[in-house]
Order: sequence, then C-alpha cells, then structure tokens
Amino acid sequence: KKVAILYGGRSVEHAVSVNSARNIFEFLDKSKFEPVAIGISKGGQWFLTEGVGKDIEKGKAVSLTLNPAKPSFTVIKSGDKFTVDILFPVLHGTDGEDGSIQGLIKAMDLPMVGTGVLGSSLSMNKIVAKRLLREAGLPVTDFLTFRYDEKDKISFNALSKKLGLPFMVKSASLGSSVGVTKVKTKKDFKAAVEEAFKYDDEMLAEEYITGRELECAVLGNNPPEASLPGEIVISKNYEFYTFDAKYVDPDAVRIDVPAKLSKPVAEKIRKASVKAFEALHCLDFSRIDLFLDKKGNIYINEINTIPGFTNSSMFPMMWKERGISFPDLITRLLNLAQE
Ligand code: DAL
Ligand code: MG
Repeated sequence: KKVAILYGGRSVEHAVSVNSARNIFEFLDKSKFEPVAIGISKGGQWFLTEGVGKDIEKGKAVSLTLNPAKPSFTVIKSGDKFTVDILFPVLHGTDGEDGSIQGLIKAMDLPMVGTGVLGSSLSMNKIVAKRLLREAGLPVTDFLTFRYDEKDKISFNALSKKLGLPFMVKSASLGSSVGVTKVKTKKDFKAAVEEAFKYDDEMLAEEYITGRELECAVLGNNPPEASLPGEIVISKNYEFYTFDAKYVDPDAVRIDVPAKLSKPVAEKIRKASVKAFEALHCLDFSRIDLFLDKKGNIYINEINTIPGFTNSSMFPMMWKERGISFPDLITRLLNLAQE
C-alpha cells in the first residue's frame, strides 16, 4: 500500500516536522508499505519530494483533485497523476495538528493515521483541552485565560496573587514550547504576553509546578494502551523544557525511559493518560505530558496528537522500552489507520 507522509507545513514547528517525518520515511517497513513523501512548504504549497528533507520546494509541485471517486494528486508540470492508499500527517502545530489537515483528509475519504478533526482541534487548544480534562475529573494546573482585546487589562499583581510566582504564560495553541514563557518578574510578564499573542489571539496564565516533567505514550483504540512514563530531567541552565532544550542543545536534558517512579505513581499516570486520551477524543496515538509535584500529585499539562518522532522525541523511545521497535510502531500506526 502507498503511504503519503505529509510533512513540513506552515507551522512554526515546520523544521521539527521535517525531522519527525525523515525518521518515519526511513524506518517505515518497505516490504509492507511504499512511502510517498509530500512536503508542504512554509508558504503552504504541496510538493512531491524524493525523500524527506528540508528542501521541500525543490520537489515537484502537486495539486490535489477530490473527484472522481478516488482522490488523486497531479504533478503540475508534467500532468502525471498518482493516488495513495493511506495518509500519515506527520505535521506539528498550526494547520497540521489542529484538525485542518484532518478535515481535508476526511473529505478525501482515505484512511488516515491519528486523531480526527474534533480531537485534533480540542487538543491543540490548551484552554479548551484543560477545560475538558478538568470536566473529566483529571488534574490540571490552575489557569486564567485572556483574549487579545483584554490584553491591557491583564495585571501581573493579580495573576501572581492567584497563581503564585513564578507562573507560566502560554499562547493558546502551538507546540514545542513556542509562545511559552516562565514569568518571574513584572518585566518578564510584559514580554511574555507580547510573545504569547504573537501566535494566537488567546493566551493563558498557568500555575507553575515545581517538580518533575513526565511524558506517557498512548497507542491504539478501544481500549488504548499506555507505555511506562518517561522523564525529562532538564539541566539547571534552562528554566523549563524550552524549544532550545528540546531540539537545539543536546546537553540540555537527560531522558529517562522508563522514569524512576514507584509502581503506584506510574500506574496513576498511565491510567490518567488513557483517560485524557479518551476525554479529548484522540485516536491511534498521542503523547500525554504531565507534571509530578513534590507531594506526589500529578497534573496533565497537555496532549500532543501528533507527537514528535525526532531523534530526541520520547514517543518512539517509550514504545521501544515496551518492546515495540520503531518500524513495528509505524506498522502498528498504519494498521490502526485502516481499521
Ligand atoms: N510538538 C512536538 C513535536 C511534540 O510534542 O513532540
Ligand atoms: Mg507539546
């Protein structure tokens, strides 16, 4: 079967997507599936590329036709047409992980790996996701939300009184910690609000949890399965798990898979992760990010419906620890798409 790997995209996580998709292209079991790389440029144009790489625009520009019955791609220059059997969006953030591409694929009526329109858009919006998680009885950090038109009314003093110091300021959407700042002073606060509103017209201010940063991978449906949690131990040079700590500085973090946790705490995290996956209408796979405070309380930070598959990403590491190799993991995901 032909698998279209969609990668790149208009999101600020474009480069992260290229790195995730490169691994998926490389490790996909070629005796079972034939990968077709379709790169989306930062400008939003689609190209058929030979493998997965950052020079998307050197590929062949393609157009998509939804009719007749089977949707097809056309190489614009030559007029050559091709079809695919399964779509695997390996896109992160805006326009790729937020339900928009998922809606397009739904209109194509082809099997797709991952969460559909509803779950993708719910999970991408940190405010909506937190409300639904709380509603499902899951622990989330305290938070306050603001729209852009309320920007001048947001008071540092009121927030620090309500949330304590430091606190976090986050853009409502986006991933990889873009638009996220840890606020300690009034001066940080101003810059943090500007930064958050660069990416979305809604932001949230959140309680900061002093403790450990954990992740748990969820795979499958009815019922989904949770991996053992992994831990990100962040070097003292970083205030939190920032974009640079994630992808730029190889010495910024130590990753422990599995995390050193007592069995009851690990079980509590796994159960909460599956519950969160279900509460947010996720399908096939997701990575749940959590905090564990010094008293042993857990908090769900967020859900990534298309988690990273880069060399420093935890989702594939957590399944490897459970005995599922990278190629087998991709096969599992492609089989789930066809169920
Ligand atoms: N948003 C990035 C890719 C992640 O969660 O892994
Ligand atoms: Mg994330």
